[in-house]
Amino acid sequence: MIIEWQKTGKPIDPANFFPFSRKTSVEIGFGKGDFIENYCKVYRDNLIGIEISEYSLRNAIKRLSKYNNIKILKSEAFFAIGHLFRKSTIDKIFIIFPDPWPKKRHYKKRFLNSEFFDRLAYVLKNRGKIFIITDEKVLAENINKILQKNQHFSLKKPPVKYIELAKNTKYGKKWRDYKKQFFIFYLVKVKGIKKYWDDILTGKRFDHILIEDFDLKKFIKKAKGVFIKDKSKFISFKNIYRGERNFILEFILKEETLLQNIFLKGEILEKKCVIKSLNPYNTIFTKGFFEIVNALSL
Ligand SMILES: C[S@@+](CC[C@H](N)C(=O)[O-])C[C@H]1O[C@@H](n2cnc3c(N)ncnc32)[C@H](O)[C@@H]1O
Repeated sequence: MIIEWQKTGKPIDPANFFPFSRKTSVEIGFGKGDFIENYCKVYRDNLIGIEISEYSLRNAIKRLSKYNNIKILKSEAFFAIGHLFRKSTIDKIFIIFPDPWPKKRHYKKRFLNSEFFDRLAYVLKNRGKIFIITDEKVLAENINKILQKNQHFSLKKPPVKYIELAKNTKYGKKWRDYKKQFFIFYLVKVKGIKKYWDDILTGKRFDHILIEDFDLKKFIKKAKGVFIKDKSKFISFKNIYRGERNFILEFILKEETLLQNIFLKGEILEKKCVIKSLNPYNTIFTKGFFEIVNALSL
């Protein structure tokens, strides 16, 4: 039931992980799994739950594995929405009682920021929906501020059934007992983002570079000289870590808002050198990545 995105190559089309062609809905931060299970009993969508906490994941896997229309994606939400999903592949996104981080000093921990809403507009299908419920006034005010500037969504009346399902969760029940106010947002995507990650993702995998007649000194000079700065990207050599017959190169690669440290490992075999990605499952093989590969291969 786990989507092994580290092994499938990115970005993913969630529909490929389910046997039935149905609506694709995602819950971000499903915790104990109350909402996703409640929802699954009413709607037959293909469901993906995203969660970062190991503890929640372990419990939810036990609890949810009996449903063949629920898959779990273990990831941080901002990363998942920004980098793991293909454009326009999700019908509905649910964010049910997200961690509020109300204090100013915790602002950076709130993933529900303005860029996140742009990322949601990218992965949602046209007329795709977002349902958010929170009991935290500061968070709701912040979402309102973001939405005033965001052109991609229009606010609509939330379905009564979604509210009912959300209130019937651990936090929903708790805040109801405390008589707390609920703030609910139901957004419909009315305008897509044309130019976003499409411009930098290649969908290609990288296997290796083979260099014949390898000269380590010359190669290090070449690697240290890798520096590309243009409108959309910044690439720079950062470090080399050397062993007897091998080395690791580190590059900084920034494209739009995607920042990666690229690690390439070289093995020297007599007069040849083979260079591979040190962490292929965590590397996103973007256009910038292949510019580094080209610069080293020339
Ligand atoms: C307050 S709980 C709500 C759980 C669930 N939605 C419910 O209503 O029962 C928030 C959940 O979001 C998860 N979470 C917080 N920040 C996250 C992030 N950046 N990425 C993925 N999950 C996150 C937490 O681990 C936690 O399980």
